[in-house]
Amino acid sequence: MSADALANGDHKKVVRRITCVGAGYVGGPTCAMIANKCPHITVTVVDMNQAKIDEWNSDSLPIFEPGLEEIVMKCRGTNLFFSSDVPQAIRDADLIFISVNTPTKMYGKGKGMAPDLKYVESVARSIAEHAEGPKIVVEKSTVPVKAAESILSILRDAQRTNNNLTFQVLSNPEFLAEGTAMRDLSNPDRVLIGGEDSEEGAKAVAALVEVYESWVPRERIITTNTWSSELSKLVANAFLAQRISSINSVSAICEATGADVSEVAHAVGFDTRIGNKFLNASVGFGGSCFQKDVLSLVYLCESLHLNKAAEYWHGVIEINNWQRRRFADKIVAELFNTVAGKKIAVFGFAFKKNTGDTRESSAIHVCKHLMEEQANLHIYDPKVTESQMRSELAIESSEKNVTKLVTVHSDPYEAAKDAHAVVILTEWDEFKTYDYSRIFNSMVHPAALFDGRLLLKKKEMESIGFRFFGIGTAPNHLTRVGFAATP
Ligand SMILES: NC(=O)c1ccc[n+]([C@@H]2O[C@H](COP(=O)([O-])OP(=O)(O)OC[C@H]3O[C@@H](n4cnc5c(N)ncnc54)[C@H](O)[C@@H]3O)[C@@H](O)[C@H]2O)c1
Repeated sequence: MSADALANGDHKKVVRRITCVGAGYVGGPTCAMIANKCPHITVTVVDMNQAKIDEWNSDSLPIFEPGLEEIVMKCRGTNLFFSSDVPQAIRDADLIFISVNTPTKMYGKGKGMAPDLKYVESVARSIAEHAEGPKIVVEKSTVPVKAAESILSILRDAQRTNNNLTFQVLSNPEFLAEGTAMRDLSNPDRVLIGGEDSEEGAKAVAALVEVYESWVPRERIITTNTWSSELSKLVANAFLAQRISSINSVSAICEATGADVSEVAHAVGFDTRIGNKFLNASVGFGGSCFQKDVLSLVYLCESLHLNKAAEYWHGVIEINNWQRRRFADKIVAELFNTVAGKKIAVFGFAFKKNTGDTRESSAIHVCKHLMEEQANLHIYDPKVTESQMRSELAIESSEKNVTKLVTVHSDPYEAAKDAHAVVILTEWDEFKTYDYSRIFNSMVHPAALFDGRLLLKKKEMESIGFRFFGIGTAPNHLTRVGFAATP
């Protein structure tokens, strides 16, 4: 964007060149969507990881997302480019998205709680070093409240020595969900843009609004101050995670009383004040965001000495860990209190269906607990590679244990053959379509089926012959009137 255009407030199609730093689960799909919807904008996605950029430029993209490949193939080389030349992409851009990872810090102050902002800071420093003219810098990464202030301090420092530089920092958190990213990006519930409360801030917000207006109705583009925008992202993820922990806590009550968690969720979710989304009981939430963002909120509360609020939100994480452990303990208990040396088939390793992402997957934690009990795990997942599974498990256990106890399969029927139990840990649709009679007949009897995602029908599985255990479903004797446990 020319300096004149910014100064005159002339924003009609002023953003013509966008650079996104970070070619991950957010940067790649988001930029593919912008390139697809805004043919007048040239979008360059850069990353310091050359291998990842090579994959983005190949026929085998580094991430799997339904609908992504078609759009990348359509736009790549026309107005969508992938490169590792970060300085050049910074120089060329009118607007720069920061879409780098912000994992939970694993060292120093805030270890295990605060997000690690070193990657965000390094991008801010690169922009300060290489920018030659005005830039709108947009935080798309999820960051704690006030992160924009740190970015701006670094950028404004560069301005002191170069009069051509002007910077505005916006917050534009991403709300896409992996597995449905392209649908979410194409038809978002809302786009949130936070900016500085000043004339220059308003102009920068207007420029980014204009980009999204190419396909998102204006009434779904919310503009706020920067801090509200940053906080809203953490709060949105905390609320979503809280719903899952709430229903998971109820699943334990159901198992002990004879109530059925799916029926309870259905009845409760029918209330329009509550709604039916995110009320599926499961073996716990995973993914790179929920735990990290709730912990970031907890850390923020603690930093502000709001200890009750910190405790409240920390409970969401505690229930999640408890649910994973509870499920693993149930497997051991129902396999006659020992799984040592027993073959257990694990269906699903990704943190949810339709993604190959395994970050913070509940499967890792359940497998880890079972490995501690010396179970022989035979894992199948339609999208997760063997090396990915092994490296995730080696972090939680040890490489020696993984080599000894884990076998990875490309055929679910092979994984289940001669197993004492099948354990479902991801809600892949294909798991519903398997021939469970065939699986049952190939297993050691009595054969158990542990459904951590409530994918299968209990009665159907029991009629095949399985001992069936679903999250939030009680043993049959508890569900009969007259036999229910009295509290
Ligand atoms: N994954 C999601 O579903 C999701 C959804 C909403 C928001 N977010 C947030 O978006 C951000 C990015 O998440 P992600 O899942 O895309 O992460 P990711 O790990 O998939 O991708 C981040 C990329 O940034 C690159 N990178 C890091 N520092 C760099 C630097 N200085 N220069 C160039 N490249 C650099 C890394 O090499 C990596 O490829 C995080 O803050 C996350 O919390 C993620």
